[in-house]
Amino acid sequence: MSGIFITFEGPDASGKTTQIGFLREYLEKEKISFILTREPGGTEIGDQIRSVLLDRKNEGMLPVTEALLYAASRAQLVGEVIRPALQDGYIVISDRFLDSSIAYQGFGRKLGEIVQTVNAPAVDGVRPDLTFLLKTEPSVMRQRRAASEEDRMEAQKEAFHREVLQGYLKLAADEPERIRVIDGERPAEEIAEEIRICVKELYKKRTGKMQKTDGDGTAPDCPSVP
Ligand code: TMP
Repeated sequence: MSGIFITFEGPDASGKTTQIGFLREYLEKEKISFILTREPGGTEIGDQIRSVLLDRKNEGMLPVTEALLYAASRAQLVGEVIRPALQDGYIVISDRFLDSSIAYQGFGRKLGEIVQTVNAPAVDGVRPDLTFLLKTEPSVMRQRRAASEEDRMEAQKEAFHREVLQGYLKLAADEPERIRVIDGERPAEEIAEEIRICVKELYKKRTGKMQKTDGDGTAPDCPSVP
């Protein structure tokens, strides 16, 4: 596949949406084709699954049901949107992907390996080229969300969110080449610049294009770009 697959991961309220917005502005300015999607959802069917997953009425949902529904939404998204776009050479940016299921259902719900198993047919070999993990402590997350209404997942106990963060950090330690950990508590503009540098590097490596330099004639480095 000729496209580039970039994912954003992190605990709830880690600033993913803000950062995706900055990256979107940058790619538009550079006139680079991309598509933006999110999980759960991103398709008509996936958005219906999202409503079931996040509805606070569904507090009795079993962990395994939850894992299967996230995988079902992902299967539809990969087949309908992500794979075709990558085959057409687009940059695909997704707000969450498989790592979310491993962190939330694998670690948070303690389902472990089952999560990989049920997701194998959903991702069907599609794997992100680069993942930004916005590391944010659960206490910061609570402050950021103070005034807003919580969905079923956000309303989980702090211990659950702590497990999720630990799960993410374990994933990042296992795959340092792909997963770039960013301190999500730094100023948003600083984080956006770090992300732009990494995306530029990856794009340049893959396409040989966008040889722009930053002022002093040298392109800044992003050591973890695969
Ligand atoms: P969002 O708030 O980033 O849109 O994500 C919705 C919630 O779903 C969020 O609390 C994280 C959770 N989630 C999982 O538990 N497993 C998954 O596989 C995905 C994609 C999201």
